[in-house]
Amino acid sequence: MEQFDVVIRNGTVATASDIMQCDVGIKDGKVAMLGRGLPAGKREIDAAGKLVLPGGVDAHCHLDQPMEEGLKMADDFRSGTISAACGGTTTVIPFAAQARGQSLRAAVEDYHRRAEGKAVVDYAFHMIISDPTEKVLKEELPQLIREGYTSFKIYMTYDDMKLNDRQILDLLAVARREGAMAMIHAENADCISWLTEQLEAAGLSAPKYHGHSRPMLVEREATHRAIAISELVDVPILIVHVSGKEAIEQIRWAHGHGLRIYAETCPQYLVLSADDLDQDGYHGAKCVCSPPPRDKENQQYVWDGLADGLFTVFSSDHAPFRYEDPQGKKPGGKEVPFRYIPNGTPGLETRLPLLFSEGVGKGRIDLNRFVALTATDPAKMYGLYPRKGTIAIGADADIAIWDPHKDVTISNDLLHHDVDYTPYEGMQVTGWPVTTLSRGEVVWNEGQFDARIGRGEFLKCGLPDPARPKKR
Ligand code: URP
Ligand code: ZN
Ligand code: ZN
Repeated sequence: MEQFDVVIRNGTVATASDIMQCDVGIKDGKVAMLGRGLPAGKREIDAAGKLVLPGGVDAHCHLDQPMEEGLKMADDFRSGTISAACGGTTTVIPFAAQARGQSLRAAVEDYHRRAEGKAVVDYAFHMIISDPTEKVLKEELPQLIREGYTSFKIYMTYDDMKLNDRQILDLLAVARREGAMAMIHAENADCISWLTEQLEAAGLSAPKYHGHSRPMLVEREATHRAIAISELVDVPILIVHVSGKEAIEQIRWAHGHGLRIYAETCPQYLVLSADDLDQDGYHGAKCVCSPPPRDKENQQYVWDGLADGLFTVFSSDHAPFRYEDPQGKKPGGKEVPFRYIPNGTPGLETRLPLLFSEGVGKGRIDLNRFVALTATDPAKMYGLYPRKGTIAIGADADIAIWDPHKDVTISNDLLHHDVDYTPYEGMQVTGWPVTTLSRGEVVWNEGQFDARIGRGEFLKCGLPDPARPKKR
């Protein structure tokens, strides 16, 4: 009888710290043995010439998130997680978003119903807190953290989500007491609304002015404020979707002062720029996201931060709205002023190939750093490590086998999301995940997705070690 369910043979296995020529023996969905010349498996996969990497952990993506009246996300847990699997990602962490007036528990329960029976890879939830009432602060949030929802996002902007500094202080105090990770969307809401009014008054409402309404200054100010609040409460925070130089400088300053400030960035800040918001006609709407893509100089700052450890996490911030859709980028079927364009770009499936090709392929980061940013460190940040994010004995056998030489011209036709465009259309990349295993099951192989819808399991998150306070 075969000792293993699956053996991946002859590949180059890389983790966040090591690179080794070895086989991977998988039993009961877990990595059971690493070594050379392993005994036979029921299924044998030859990975000669390929890289065997931990499946990606996409720790920031939006799937089937309830939206304001008239808008709808294009991807639910089915299409979103299929797209993830086909792009080498085996764990996703989308957001259970609390609407104002809604109980936080009700938001989490509703999100479970949305995920139920649909996911094809494993998933955990972050929470979004838009209404930190006494009940949320004293009862619901502490209880939910103890039940395995150990991270939550705070918005400093967006009218229906934003919290004031006092509310942020109260939430960070709960994060500190309970050991949760707080994620911050750092942009100054009042600066944005003032600039938006000025632009509209001057008749400047095309998609490209979205970028003008949110210059780096608004991100820099909010990043600094978030850091100061975190310092006051003495609790680490993770600043999401950092877009460029001025926010990065604030984070470097915080690191220089010994503060535990973690940072995330995303593909759109590496390969898109303000020019992509300025496409012909209304097409710039496809790249409207917040913070907006910047310019080449800012891209370089983001690359430097990826290489030198300023960033801990590289996520997609997949926020899927179709372009030709009255519930998407053209609300009500119209080309609307930029302030009404739903924010976000799709990118679950392209996150890893873009960073691999532009980063590892072009020598900007090494393979270990690639694994750390895309799998190991997000798993650590959100309490999923060592079950997820690495290839080690006892870890879930979530593995992406990469052909590092495969040339692909990105096209929306190749992708599996339900969005009708990709902002990366026509981009040439080298390196693509050709096989993906989730808990030892091959779900994507040589261009074919094949897995039972609903096989993905909900993951309760542990208290993340990086969230512990310094106890100053
Ligand atoms: O524009 C973006 N990033 N949309 C998604 C929501 C968010 O703020 O992450
Ligand atoms: Zn955000
Ligand atoms: Zn987001």
